[in-house]
Amino acid sequence: MSELIVALDVQTREEAVAKVKAIGDAVDFYKIGLELYTAEGPDVVKAVKDLGKRIFLDLKFHDIPRTVERAVKSGGKLGVDLMTIHSVGGKAMIRAAHEAAAEFGASAPRILAVTVLTSLDRSDLEDVGITGREPADQVMAMAKFAIDHGADGLVCSPREVGSLSRTLKAGTLFVTPGVRPRGADVGDQKRVATPADAVRDGATHLVVGRPILAAEDPVSAARQIRAEMESVN
Ligand code: C5P
Repeated sequence: MSELIVALDVQTREEAVAKVKAIGDAVDFYKIGLELYTAEGPDVVKAVKDLGKRIFLDLKFHDIPRTVERAVKSGGKLGVDLMTIHSVGGKAMIRAAHEAAAEFGASAPRILAVTVLTSLDRSDLEDVGITGREPADQVMAMAKFAIDHGADGLVCSPREVGSLSRTLKAGTLFVTPGVRPRGADVGDQKRVATPADAVRDGATHLVVGRPILAAEDPVSAARQIRAEMESVN
């Protein structure tokens, strides 16, 4: 069964707690990213966990293996469920993240790898020395690399999730942002999919922000998305 994660893209702990309380039982998984974490730190993670929610801590670690290992341990101690790393950090870094997480046993955070940021096109890749490759090919290569070296799953766009889920081993997590219910405001997202399409293509988790947070009735927006996801499951 695919899960809905709401991107808690707000600036303060107070706003975060107010949103989570307002959404109530309609959502039980939230993504805390760089903006909110940099402003409020671990306290905001604890506050959302205290409301009974699971946490995807999306800080996209990319550092030497020892530093990433220790950062993942800190996330494990906070009790988060999902964390992100950049697959370009290399195999020793990915392995270090995996091993640090594994120390938490049954409550280990699952490690998701970012392959190629969706903001980068072919010429951006060339600027950083990745030449002669389409972004889609680079995504596939980095995805296989990350999973082979211990990542539990991938953050991927709706455009990539189908080919990745058909290629990678069963049990891999595919966490997909860029999801918009039919008729919803697309905002700055360029390549979107409906919740049903993303689930049909193999997404195990959908990350949805503004269509729920900015809705007049966030509870009903979340319920509608879940109903659409469940219609496929
Ligand atoms: O509001 P919206 O549904 O567009 O939010 C999507 C969330 O997923 C945001 O937190 C955004 O940073 C994140 N994200 C994304 N596209 C990516 C990676 C992450 O939209 N390629």
